[in-house]
Formats: sequence, structure tokens, C-alpha cells
Amino acid sequence: MITTARLLLRPLVPGDVPAIYTMSLEPALGKWIPDQVYRDEEHAEEVVLMLIEMATHRDPRDKPFVLGLEERETGALIGHVGLSKARGSVEIGYAIAERLHGRGLATEAVTAMTDWALRELGLPEVLGIVATANVSSCRVLEKAGYVYTGDKPAGIAVYRRTAA
Ligand SMILES: CC(C)(COP(=O)(O)OP(=O)(O)OC[C@H]1O[C@@H](n2cnc3c(N)ncnc32)[C@H](O)[C@@H]1OP(=O)(O)O)[C@@H](O)C(=O)NCCC(=O)NCCS
Repeated sequence: MITTARLLLRPLVPGDVPAIYTMSLEPALGKWIPDQVYRDEEHAEEVVLMLIEMATHRDPRDKPFVLGLEERETGALIGHVGLSKARGSVEIGYAIAERLHGRGLATEAVTAMTDWALRELGLPEVLGIVATANVSSCRVLEKAGYVYTGDKPAGIAVYRRTAA
């Protein structure tokens, strides 16, 4: 578990399925991470149970490590943040419920998860790989200390944060 000012980054639990399913139907998520849009609640449950199992390995170099974002004030699940293998390294992914966009919550979650991965897992770097058109997501990475390294391929921005 990782605690920030407003969030608890904690393992997903089966009780999160309705919130994850509802979030998956929101327009921004459908636009930018369409592979995380679920057909129905059973489909969401299948994926959440798989993510719960994979997170027990606690090593994103091996299997995806996804945590739920719980709003400390309400106890509600309001997003998720995860690390997974990409391009010979590890990349970070994240989403926040639309009603709470623009309050710095993604930045808070991405900063905390990255700090944890660099410090506790000893990863040499974490990548952020996002569509250049996803302006708010690029902005989140910049605010979380990631450095833009270029578009590879065109339209896909690659950001990087290292321990140093
Ligand atoms: C990307 C996402 C996680 C951002 O969450 P958030 O909690 O709103 O992010 P933050 O509030 O921490 O920061 C958003 C920043 O983008 C800026 N922003 C938002 N929309 C913008 C736009 N259209 N143009 C320019 N900047 C924009 C905000 O002003 C803010 O920057 P600021 O603090 O300098 O003002 C959220 O939009 C989301 O869940 N999107 C769907 C999933 C997704 O795209 N995930 C990322 C791919 S891995």
C-alpha cells in the first residue's frame, strides 16, 4: 500500500468490479485506452480477478502490477495505476474517474507509483508511453517528473523517469 495526501494506492479487490466497469465506459477511457473497455460486468470481473492474481508477483518486469486508487476521504475507488512490461523496460498506465479530472489526482498517483518502483523495486527507469494527442496524460507525466524523449513512432510520445 502506498499513501499520498488524498489517495491510497492499494491492491484491487473483487468488490472493485462495479467501479472499474463503470469507469471503463467513460468516454476518455474509451478513447485513449480502448482495450480497457469491458463488454459487461462479467468481463470486467474476469480482468480484475486476473489483475489481482498478477499483482501478487509484485514485479512488473514479469507480470502487470496494477493498484486501485482509493480516495481516502470517501473510501471510493476512483481510478487505477499500473506498471507493465514495454519496450524492454517498464511503463506506467493510469486512469481517473471523469468526475474527478483536473484536480491533480493522476499526477499524485503517478508520482507515488513511480517513486515506489524506482526506490522499492530498484528499477533503473519507468517509461510513460502515450498518444501525443492525449494532452492531459502527457501533462501528468511532465508534472510527475518524466522527461520527454521523443515520438517513437510519430504520434506516440515516450517519456522517461530515472532514479537520479
Ligand atoms: C489522463 C488522466 C489520467 C488525467 O487525470 P487527471 O487527474 O485529470 O490529471 P491531473 O489533474 O493530475 O493533470 C491533468 C493536467 O492536464 C491538463 N489538461 C487537461 N486537459 C487539457 C487540455 N485539453 N489541454 C491542455 N491541458 C489539459 C490539466 O490542466 C492538468 O495540468 P495542470 O495541472 O498543469 O493544469 C485522465 O484524463 C484519464 O483518466 N484519462 C483516460 C485514461 C487515459 O488517458 N490514461 C492515460 C493513458 S495511460
